[in-house]
Amino acid sequence: MSQHRGANRSPFAAFRKRAEFASAENRQKLTRGAQIQLGALRDDLRFGFQWAVKPRSVGAIAPSGRQLARAMAAQVDPALPGSVVELGPGTGVITRALIERGIAEERLILIEFNRDFAVLLRKRFPKARVLEGDAFALARTVRALGEAPLAAVVSGLPLFNQPMYRRLRLLAQALSLCDRRGAFVQFSYHLLPPVPAEAGDFALNGTPRVWWNLFPARVWVYQRPPADGA
Ligand SMILES: C[S@@+](CC[C@H](N)C(=O)[O-])C[C@H]1O[C@@H](n2cnc3c(N)ncnc32)[C@H](O)[C@@H]1O
Repeated sequence: MSQHRGANRSPFAAFRKRAEFASAENRQKLTRGAQIQLGALRDDLRFGFQWAVKPRSVGAIAPSGRQLARAMAAQVDPALPGSVVELGPGTGVITRALIERGIAEERLILIEFNRDFAVLLRKRFPKARVLEGDAFALARTVRALGEAPLAAVVSGLPLFNQPMYRRLRLLAQALSLCDRRGAFVQFSYHLLPPVPAEAGDFALNGTPRVWWNLFPARVWVYQRPPADGA
């Protein structure tokens, strides 16, 4: 019976149906792609505007690209216990990469100076703790939350706009708050690290330059020195 009905159908019907299905799927993909592009463009404009108003504190004309964000997140071990603090998350590009890396949103503490960015981050990451405040008061903030030891501190702060003593103080705070295997992760557009290796008692490693970024950047990873005999 069913064979008979099938024989009466046009030989092209199945083909046409498949083609229609495929083009609907393509249309959906295109719409999703266009939405992502539009979202990125909106973030670029938002960021550019904040940079024009507060160039020193925003420190970059555009948010980090996805490759740089992934290179930053790759330095965090999701298996380490504790929260992950992100300093200067901006529009949340690195935040998203951290979540994709396997760090639950609930484990994230985002410290952002800029009110507009903080409002946006609360909308985008409702399960993360977004604190509108100064990243340089890191130890006080984290201890008030009772959150140490941390798995990592990830920073997008424009550290080169700060004097060396403030960079050193921030790094010392971050390393003292982190688990022994944890890290302070920072990117910079410069050739040299924001805190040079000889400035203190820590281990320093840099990744190769991420070229696909405005501007090309390197990721610097600071850790406590290995314990004696380790
Ligand atoms: C170079 S942008 C990086 C933004 C984002 N992490 C990214 O990679 O696209 C620097 C960010 O740090 C924030 N910032 C600057 N100084 C800060 C401070 N003292 N405390 C907290 N956030 C700060 C700025 O508002 C801005 O969002």
